[in-house]
Amino acid sequence: KVKPQRKRKRGEEQFFEEDVSQYDDSLSFQDMNLSRPLLKAITALGFKQPTPVQKACIPVGLLGKDICACAATGTGKTAAFMLPVLERLIYKPRQAPVTRVLVLVPTRELGIQVHAVTKQLAQFSSITACLAVGGLDIKTQEAALRAGPDILIATPGRLIDHLHNCPSFHLGSVEVLILDEADRMLDEYFEEQMKEIIRLCARHRQTMLFSATMTDEVKDLASVSLKNPVRVFVNSNTDVAPFLRQEFVRIRPSREGDREAIVAALLTRTFPDHVMLFTQTKKQAHRLHILLGLLGLRVGELHGDLSQAQRLEGLRRFKDEQIDVLVATDVAARGLDIEGVKTVVNFTMPNTVKHYVHRVGRTARAGRAGRSVSLVGEEERKMLKEIVKAAKAPVKARVLPQDVILRFREKIERLEPDVYAVLRLEREERELQRSEAQINTAKRKLERGAQEAAKGASRSWFQTQEERKQEKLAKALQEFDLALRGKKRRKKFMKESQKKAQLTPEERSQFEVLKAQMYAERLAKRNRRAPRARAMPDDDPPARTGAGRQPCICSAGGAGLAVTLTALSCRPSFEDRKRLGLAARRKGGNPKARSR
Ligand SMILES: Nc1ncnc2c1ncn2[C@@H]1O[C@H](COP(=O)(O)OP(=O)(O)OP(=O)(O)O)[C@@H](O)[C@H]1O
Ligand SMILES: [Mg+2]
Repeated sequence: KVKPQRKRKRGEEQFFEEDVSQYDDSLSFQDMNLSRPLLKAITALGFKQPTPVQKACIPVGLLGKDICACAATGTGKTAAFMLPVLERLIYKPRQAPVTRVLVLVPTRELGIQVHAVTKQLAQFSSITACLAVGGLDIKTQEAALRAGPDILIATPGRLIDHLHNCPSFHLGSVEVLILDEADRMLDEYFEEQMKEIIRLCARHRQTMLFSATMTDEVKDLASVSLKNPVRVFVNSNTDVAPFLRQEFVRIRPSREGDREAIVAALLTRTFPDHVMLFTQTKKQAHRLHILLGLLGLRVGELHGDLSQAQRLEGLRRFKDEQIDVLVATDVAARGLDIEGVKTVVNFTMPNTVKHYVHRVGRTARAGRAGRSVSLVGEEERKMLKEIVKAAKAPVKARVLPQDVILRFREKIERLEPDVYAVLRLEREERELQRSEAQINTAKRKLERGAQEAAKGASRSWFQTQEERKQEKLAKALQEFDLALRGKKRRKKFMKESQKKAQLTPEERSQFEVLKAQMYAERLAKRNRRAPRARAMPDDDPPARTGAGRQPCICSAGGAGLAVTLTALSCRPSFEDRKRLGLAARRKGGNPKARSR
């Protein structure tokens, strides 16, 4: 297969040792020198032929090389990174019970899934895998970590928690570090946590980065200090799944308030089951859950406002076909492999094309066909153009009869009092639960107070809840500041909508679109900033400071800079930076903007 090569920048050519985006199409699993237990598991899973990304990545992974891979959604990236790792573990059995492979993922549900796939692939070997993600029992995880599992699958926050609170657990023996959904793991959201993890990881390791929207920009990859990485771009990072049919419903400027009616009509009349419906906000997801439920559909929800038990229950019921529609935010957009999803509906267009690629990638997986239907308003047409430009197959316009939309709008209006009644009931219930919980906590504190005081040590946190909250607030303020600058209309809208308790359908959809736009603008602004280059020659062993770490050496660029970008393990820890008052500072940030 010959892929058109885009023109590379000079830095990139030096950064990547090799480009193996063109793979041997005739390669089978048997040709890959995989051990018997793995071939047996592959057969048990029903994999007949390796997928393109597996053909390209498994041989390179087996050589122990660093990989930066991009392949479309649903094309088997999980097995592409897990098989070479398992093979290496089988080939070189462990001398002591230590964790040798670390897989980082952005969401808890994805962690659970990758863990399940790993266990399936390792079922005929003695390799052990362990899961450390937020929301699940911490004590059970600690006990499992102490046993030294070969492979650990984790979300960054929970992993750091264990590293700080479980004395016998460390990352010093990690030989392979894998970032699934790597572009997400390396973005601003996980920045602090990733710095901390990479600082604690062994320096000599194989690093593998995988995503359907992988970046090959050197500046984005610098923080994981890849060593002579191999670039494997089986697809470009704007490619959607190969058998996806993309449809768009146009929302005219004066008809923004029709979105809910359109979605209700689509789900009732055309796409009754196996649907994932994405919204921009948790609030809208919850409202649609109630509304569609009142319209007689079998609906569930999945977003960050739910407890972990509720999140998993929603997902399970959707997988078991107990519900037909799963309303979700972007927390469900990446990596989730739910069999049989036929349609993805976007209530509004997401923040960026990247988000779009992942959302619509929940269907049309593993060689199957699927469909996406996205509602596009006037303000989202720019993104539509980008998507159409990148599309390899023609996209379709879907038109709904006006009388149908009107009928559903009336139905929804009639249901409005019921929706508010449900919301009020839930609010009251929550308040009741909160006061009960407060009473229980106070009781427990009183009972345990004396014992705890005697023990002294309490659980320590990487970022306290207060710090995380402050960081979030600072980001939100920055976002608002940026979005409102010179945009009076937005300012007015935000002000007015804050005053009101209830929003009209128009305002609700407008709010969703605005949120996406504000994020996209913030992202664009960040990307425009010049990256701060940090260089440290590899062959100069760092002079260690008292704390056992070396301060950053900033220097100018030049040829070969890319390969000598400073490993994060040399940077001060989050704790140190907090002490020095540097914790809130971001790459290339403007101190003025921050203090606002
Ligand atoms: N060689 C294969 N033959 C058949 N099916 C496969 C093969 N490899 C993987 N699959 C199946 O393809 C599906 C998608 O795999 P996976 O979740 O790894 O995709 P992905 O590339 O990671 O997608 P995403 O970008 O959404 O994370 C899974 O159900 C998996 O079992
Ligand atoms: Mg995946």
